[in-house]
Amino acid sequence: MSEVKNPGPKPDAEPTAASAPVPTWIFILTLVLIYLGAVYFDRYSGWFDQQVYPPFQSADDLARYQPKSGEAALLAHGKGVYESVCGTCHGSDGLGKPDQVPPLAGSEWVSKDIPSLVRVPQLGLNGPIKVAGKDWNLAMAPMGAGLSDADLAGVLTYIRQSWGNRSSAVSADEVKAARVAISGKAPSAEELAKMTPVERGHAVFQKYGCFQCHGEDGKGGVRNTNAKTAEQVPSLIYVADGYTKEELIAFVSRGERNIPRMNPNGPEPPHFMPKWGPIINPNELSDIADFLFSLKPKGSDVGF
Ligand code: HEC
Ligand code: HEC
Repeated sequence: MSEVKNPGPKPDAEPTAASAPVPTWIFILTLVLIYLGAVYFDRYSGWFDQQVYPPFQSADDLARYQPKSGEAALLAHGKGVYESVCGTCHGSDGLGKPDQVPPLAGSEWVSKDIPSLVRVPQLGLNGPIKVAGKDWNLAMAPMGAGLSDADLAGVLTYIRQSWGNRSSAVSADEVKAARVAISGKAPSAEELAKMTPVERGHAVFQKYGCFQCHGEDGKGGVRNTNAKTAEQVPSLIYVADGYTKEELIAFVSRGERNIPRMNPNGPEPPHFMPKWGPIINPNELSDIADFLFSLKPKGSDVGF
C-alpha cells in the first residue's frame, strides 16, 4: 500500500499566506500602551527640555523651586499670592475685564504711596473711581484683609513691578505700619474671645466686606445687572433653608465665578461671588456660617 496521506503543496507551488485578522485585544493593548506612554511623556519629560527632570514637570515648575533672595523672592512669592487671590478678577495680565474689573497695569492707584495703596486690599473700595482716565463704579471687597503682612507685601510688590508698572517694592514692615494706621476699629483678639460665634461671625462679615455686595447685615445686595437673582446680589437671610453648615462653608470657600444670567444673551453680570477659601481662615468661616444662619427671620419657616 503506497498511500500518500497528505501530499502537501506541490513542489512547484507558490507559497501562500492566509490573512488571519489581528486579535482585537492586541489592538486595544496597543492603544492603551500608546496612551500611557503619552501621559508619561507629558508628565515627566519636560517636553525635551534637558534641564527638567522628575519630579518637576516644566521649566516654570522648576524655576519655582529655585532658591531666591531678597526682592526676587518677594516678587516670586507675590506672584503666587496674586494668582490665587487677585488674578481671578484683575487677570494674569493685569488688564482687568471690560466694564467689570479695572486694570492694574498702568493704574495710578498701584503707584500711590504705600498707605494709600494698602487701604484698597485692606478695606476694599467702592466706586466711583477713575483709573487711567476711565470711570468705574463697582465694589471690591477687602480681598487682602486676611493676608499676612508678608503675603500682602509680596502681592503689592508684584503688582507695582509687573506689566510695565515701575514702582518701589513694598516690605512687610511697611504693610504692618500702614495697617496699624488704617484699621482702628477692628475688634481686638480679647474682644473677639468674649463674643458668641454669631457675634464673631458678624464681625467677620464686616471685616471681609461681605456687606459691600450683600448689603448691610446681608439683607439685600447691590445692583447686579442681568443677574438671574432679580438683578441684585442676593440677600442672605434665607441661606439656612438651602444649605447645611458644611455646604455653606464649602460654597463661600469656592465662590461662584459664573453668575446665571436673567437674559442668556445679555451682558455678564458685573459682580460675582469671590472665592474666599484662600483668604478667610476656617474658624472665621465657621463663625460666618453661624452668623448667616442667625439671619433667618423668626417664625418664617415656609416649610419646603
Ligand atoms: C472679586 C474681584 C476682585 C478681586 C479678587 C480683587 N479685586 Fe481689586 N478691584 C476689583 C474691582 C471691581 C475694583 C474697582 C472698585 C471700584 O469701582 O471702586 C478693584 C479695584 C482695585 C484697585 C484700584 C483700581 C485699579 O484698578 O488700580 C486696586 C489697586 C486693586 N483692586 C488691587 C487688588 C489686589 C491687590 C487684589 C488682591 C489682593 C485685588 N484687587 C483683588 C475687583 C477685585
Ligand atoms: C463682589 C461681590 C460679593 C462679595 C464681596 C461677596 N459676595 Fe457672596 N455672592 C455674590 C454674588 C453675585 C452671589 C450670587 C451667586 C449666584 O448667583 O450663583 C453671591 C452668593 C452668596 C451666597 C449664596 C446665596 C444663596 O442664596 O445661595 C452666600 C452664602 C454668600 N454669597 C456669602 C458671602 C459671604 C459670607 C461674603 C463675605 C465673606 C460674600 N458673600 C461676599 C457676590 C459677593
